[in-house]
Amino acid sequence: MKITVIGAGNVGATAAQRIAEKELATELILVDVVDGLPQGKGLDMYESAPVEDFDTKVIGTNSYDVTAGSDIILITAGIARKPGMSRDDLQATNANIVKTVTEQAVAQSPQSILIVVSNPLDVMTYVAMKVSGFERHRVIGMAGVLDSARFRSFIAMEMNVSVEDVSAFVLGGHGDSMVPLPRYSTVAGIPLPDLMDQATIDRLVKRTRDGGIEIVNYLKTGSAYYAPSSSAVQMIEAIVKDKKRILPCAAWLQGEYNLKDVYCGVPVKLGRKGMEEIIQIKLTPEEQAGLNKSAEDVKASIAKLKL
Ligand code: APR
Repeated sequence: MKITVIGAGNVGATAAQRIAEKELATELILVDVVDGLPQGKGLDMYESAPVEDFDTKVIGTNSYDVTAGSDIILITAGIARKPGMSRDDLQATNANIVKTVTEQAVAQSPQSILIVVSNPLDVMTYVAMKVSGFERHRVIGMAGVLDSARFRSFIAMEMNVSVEDVSAFVLGGHGDSMVPLPRYSTVAGIPLPDLMDQATIDRLVKRTRDGGIEIVNYLKTGSAYYAPSSSAVQMIEAIVKDKKRILPCAAWLQGEYNLKDVYCGVPVKLGRKGMEEIIQIKLTPEEQAGLNKSAEDVKASIAKLKL
């Protein structure tokens, strides 16, 4: 298994470290536009291999030749959100970056699976699909795993229980209109509405929705990367190990959930072929309305793109 991570910044480098430490690849290529950055981080990471006991070969480079024949490409290149900046403010800059890196990466690895992390997520995943010309099962966006992980953490904190016993579902776009689903979120199998009052649920849902900006406001000069990299690596692990995990991911919808021609977060089955199935769950009219609104926002952003 050969994996390429594009962008050796906070998300990319942390994801690379997790991939190496889990030995998900025999060869891991870290690419960045900044001269020396991926080489330095890649070498430093590989020098931890004797201590951490992994045999993944980590190579940092500015050149795409080295990435040839990759099975999975994780796209994290872009600028990160600063305080006061919405994900949409990032769109024009990051669309150009994602377009350039996708073109170069897929020319070397035409059979690869692309996983996109750059924001605004749903729109950048669309850019990667459009530019690569890949089928939808090979271009997937990472958002739902992160949003659900945030929701799970807040539920665990609120109830003082292990995160291991908390599961949560968040659908929709990765933005202010994401759709957390409390009735499909459980603690030891018990649905959230049976465990806490509506006001508490609403507070946790709001915190989940604002989860990205909460971290931006603390860090001031960058955005979250520990949880985003973990989330991307969970998707990669599901693909590498052909686990058939059901995870919320941004998928190109073609009629599922009554939505068409839009990237939106829905539960999907991840295996060796990438997105192997979109799982359709029954939504209440309010939840469907939330999802529709979220999809409309993504469509409106896609319409602003100049590719
Ligand atoms: N080719 C390759 N790498 C690039 C390019 C490019 N054309 N343009 C920028 N990069 C690199 C930068 O040099 C930098 O090292 O992308 C990296 C981004 O790293 P950070 O600034 O640390 O940002 P990070 O926190 O990793 O976030 C990356 O993921 O979560 C999203 O919103 C976030 O869009 C952002 C992306």
